[in-house]
Amino acid sequence: MLAPQSVQSDTALSRDDMALVAKLVYEHAGIVIREHKEAMARGRLARRVKVLGLNSIAEYCAYLRTAAASDEIPELINAVTTNHTAFFRERHHFDHLRKDVLPRLIQERAGRRGRIRIWSAACSSGEEPYSAAAISRDVIGHRSDLDFKILATDIDTDILDRAAAGQYPAEQFDRLPADLRPLLRLEGQNSRGEARIAEDLKRLIAFKRLNLIERWPMKGPFDVIFCRNVFIYFDTPTKAAILDRYVALLQPGGFLYLGHSESLPQPHPQLRLIGRTIYERTP
Ligand SMILES: C[S@@+](CC[C@H](N)C(=O)[O-])C[C@H]1O[C@@H](n2cnc3c(N)ncnc32)[C@H](O)[C@@H]1O
Repeated sequence: MLAPQSVQSDTALSRDDMALVAKLVYEHAGIVIREHKEAMARGRLARRVKVLGLNSIAEYCAYLRTAAASDEIPELINAVTTNHTAFFRERHHFDHLRKDVLPRLIQERAGRRGRIRIWSAACSSGEEPYSAAAISRDVIGHRSDLDFKILATDIDTDILDRAAAGQYPAEQFDRLPADLRPLLRLEGQNSRGEARIAEDLKRLIAFKRLNLIERWPMKGPFDVIFCRNVFIYFDTPTKAAILDRYVALLQPGGFLYLGHSESLPQPHPQLRLIGRTIYERTP
């Protein structure tokens, strides 16, 4: 247990300490901290130093070297993850879901409570799965002859709590295109000026912690996997291993969405590029 202290924190980070942090973050999350991101990592570690009441990053790293630090690893990962996201980010994926995916799935599966499954595989604070839920509710409506669910996972437990709460600063919604904003069916603002996503949409989503480089408990199959803006943090072998597991969980004819600056680590025999960062699983 670490005793809180109130001495000013020292944010210097030695080569050895940086190497230790980079090693732990790579081993436990697959995230590569590249050299130009070291300053950012330092800032984030400094926040953790403050929370623990330590004096310096050096002291924090000394703690990370002890056996007692295993409980701190999830907190370290939470501290270094980049959680930037937005509602309907990279809109073309949501347009594809609306126009090309859901109508076909409804036609195939309605009438016998057929399953439709979407996975948001690095969901951050929830904007991505709530956007998928909003589009899906709009297209599917409340029909009871379909079993529709979204799985939303992330490694970062703090951000998942925020996602599950589904409360966001109201001004975040003001910037949305006029045709999309009403789909989130926001419920009134609280005293902190936050609007809440409608319960009806929240019920469509299960938020769970899942580390993409560890074992996955789900069996699938999924019709759509969102894996956006997380591959950028991984190296090629990590991406390739995850990609194989996505393909195994994707329904033939299902879709994988990557982020705008991402591509497959190498061509995959069962994935065909059919649109901007949209890959279809071939039979
Ligand atoms: C930049 S956000 C992307 C959010 C959303 N997909 C989007 O595109 O807007 C990246 C997310 O990946 C998560 N992440 C990083 N490494 C992960 C891992 N090994 N397993 C699961 N999630 C991870 C981070 O916690 C973070 O929330």
